[in-house]
Amino acid sequence: MTNRNSKQHNEIGMIGLGVMGRNFLLNVADHGFLVAGYDKDVSKVEALRRESKERNIQGAENIHEFIELLRKPRAIIMLVPAGAPVDSVIKDLLPHLDKGDLIIDAGNSYFKDTDLRADNLAVKGIHFLGVGVSGGEEGARHGPSIMPGGSKEAYERVRPIFEATAAKVNNLPCVTYLGPGSAGHFVKMVHNGIEYAMMQLLSETYDLMKRGLGLNDDQLHDVYNKWNNGELNSYLMEITGKIFSKVDEKTNKRLIDEILDVARQKGTGMWTSQSAMELQVPIPTIDLAVAMRDMSVYKNQRESAGKVLQWPMLIFKDNQNTFLNQLRHALYTGMIITYAQGMALLTVASDKYNYNLDLEAVARIWRGGCIIRAGLLEDIQNAFHTRNDLPNLLLDPDLSKKIIENQEHLRYIVCRGAELGVPVPALMSSLSYLDAYRSSWLPANLIQAQRDYFGAHTYERIDSKGTFHTEWEKK
Ligand code: 6PG
Repeated sequence: MTNRNSKQHNEIGMIGLGVMGRNFLLNVADHGFLVAGYDKDVSKVEALRRESKERNIQGAENIHEFIELLRKPRAIIMLVPAGAPVDSVIKDLLPHLDKGDLIIDAGNSYFKDTDLRADNLAVKGIHFLGVGVSGGEEGARHGPSIMPGGSKEAYERVRPIFEATAAKVNNLPCVTYLGPGSAGHFVKMVHNGIEYAMMQLLSETYDLMKRGLGLNDDQLHDVYNKWNNGELNSYLMEITGKIFSKVDEKTNKRLIDEILDVARQKGTGMWTSQSAMELQVPIPTIDLAVAMRDMSVYKNQRESAGKVLQWPMLIFKDNQNTFLNQLRHALYTGMIITYAQGMALLTVASDKYNYNLDLEAVARIWRGGCIIRAGLLEDIQNAFHTRNDLPNLLLDPDLSKKIIENQEHLRYIVCRGAELGVPVPALMSSLSYLDAYRSSWLPANLIQAQRDYFGAHTYERIDSKGTFHTEWEKK
């Protein structure tokens, strides 16, 4: 390593010293790399300096100073909010860069923006990587899951840094080169779509247990903790259990009950649904998860509607333990179906956008560090190991066996939700997805007939090739 007193010695630079950027920089420095950080907000640079202590980190207060601290050819990571801030940072950087320098966008950028930026920068001789980073503040600091996409050659330059800083599962880093262009940001987007669906599924089990069974926060804490010790083991399950025991410092009551029931979003779930619609891949559980965040925002209307559109909120009377057991199986089934939808989207996108994704590798790097890490991902990795062109996880022999064994519980829970009047759209849509996917016949012939009836859109026949039109009103 170069002497830290010389200028232009740092192996990598970071722009954007918010919590994620600063934590990731500290993580990189902890692994012995020389790093420099820059943020327009001087207080963030000062915060970095305070936290740096004896580490190999230098902070810069302007872009010129920052560029001077980097070894050539330069490698610069940016961790700034998606959208305009990314373009603004690139614009500020460009006059200071030379051909062969590398910019890495490690934020949650929209994948089409990533393709555009990569093309524009390539013309100027600047390399660009679109890299998904998952794991929140803690992950960034101690080991995230990293999803890189772009030029393989550019990736090789930073591979040692990513492999050192990523989470490890079975001693393997949760990072691998995923594919060209926007492959990394597309995979991260779908990761977030799955994250939305898992959070919605968990919220529905919470609702069923709170309003349906009348469980209190202590009981909910116990249930989620118990579930986390079995086949449902996952990061989101773990934090859900912990959430129910957290006491609010202000009121001394449980914090969960002081939080307004309005969910916010930054857009990655919506992008997943939009992309799936564009590619004509059904991902209804993820769609519903986005829709339910949208529904939560209509708090005032929901309050008014509740007074008019009444249905007696029944409390479940039968055996609670049996119900909880069935709920656990139903949630597990919903989780498998959610992953199946996300992976099916990646399969089609890989083909359409020439990402050439290795889905076994995607499942592997999601097993540690990221928000959707779950025991189930080992089965998913195995499924793609057995058959790397598996079109849908529901066709994997082991996972389909689990679905067959558990589906009755999902059916039971969906019926109870409908009876009680507790909304369980993610569980319901998972079940409907399953039933549709296993239906060799669907009533789409009626839709074709209707289209042809009112718009002469034609239809295909089961007994001959070609397209046909009927004069439906002709006697
Ligand atoms: C992650 C998270 C992270 C972010 C979400 C939150 O993988 O670490 O997904 O990227 O916390 O984007 O998204 P919403 O604000 O849309 O819920």
